[in-house]
Amino acid sequence: MEKIVILTGAGISAESGLGTFRDEGGLWSQHRIEDVATPEGFARNPALVHEFYNARRIQAAKARPNAAHEALARLQKDFHGKVTLVTQNVDSLHEAAGAQGVIHMHGTLAGALCASCGHRWPAPPEMMVGEPCTACTAPAARPDVVWFGEMPYFMDEIYDHLAEATLFAAIGTSGQVYPAAAFVYEAQSSGARTVELNLDPSSGASSFDNVILGPATETVPRWVEGLLSRR
Ligand code: APR
Repeated sequence: MEKIVILTGAGISAESGLGTFRDEGGLWSQHRIEDVATPEGFARNPALVHEFYNARRIQAAKARPNAAHEALARLQKDFHGKVTLVTQNVDSLHEAAGAQGVIHMHGTLAGALCASCGHRWPAPPEMMVGEPCTACTAPAARPDVVWFGEMPYFMDEIYDHLAEATLFAAIGTSGQVYPAAAFVYEAQSSGARTVELNLDPSSGASSFDNVILGPATETVPRWVEGLLSRR
């Protein structure tokens, strides 16, 4: 039985109007990671961090899934085998396209987390400094996203899926952030075939069996049709 594990990055949401991080004019050219995407940055200036994530949360709420998100949801539904979607993205466009059981290894903009008691709840559109936790009421609410220096979520589950993968695909990611950038090696050690679908070759492109270049809304639907036609 074919078991496909798909890792997505910011590039799959680019054509839905959401910025990537390391492309020309990307988020990391407009903001310093240490100021908006680290626990130290949040402790130093929580207002700046909330402003950064509030703007992204509002933008993500207006975004619509594109043909690449829709093709992956179709693959998950129509493929006679298991298709697991792991995303580094904090938007919910895979779910909006109908994907099920998406593993958000970097959390989601839609979630709030209490830095004091660990309680999670749906984030309000805009989070304020001192936002109270809905459980312990401590003024310690933060975006439920994984910052640099923090452990990504669901890693054991992800490695279990990679251990059983027969096909691994990385879509729209620059392959510069670990542990996601090493998933291709995990999959290969399980004997999986590997393919990268990206606008430009990622830094790990040479590790993949196959690299398909182009915008995700063109390459992903074509790739999915090919898989479904060979079911
Ligand atoms: N179609 C396909 N790929 C695209 C498109 C597109 N329309 N537009 C951009 N890309 C590709 C770029 O070529 C690049 O390789 O998407 C990739 C985006 O890379 P990054 O901006 O580095 O985003 P990502 O790989 O998801 O970053 C990983 O880094 O900062 C952290 O937590 C953040 O989850 C993020 C992680």
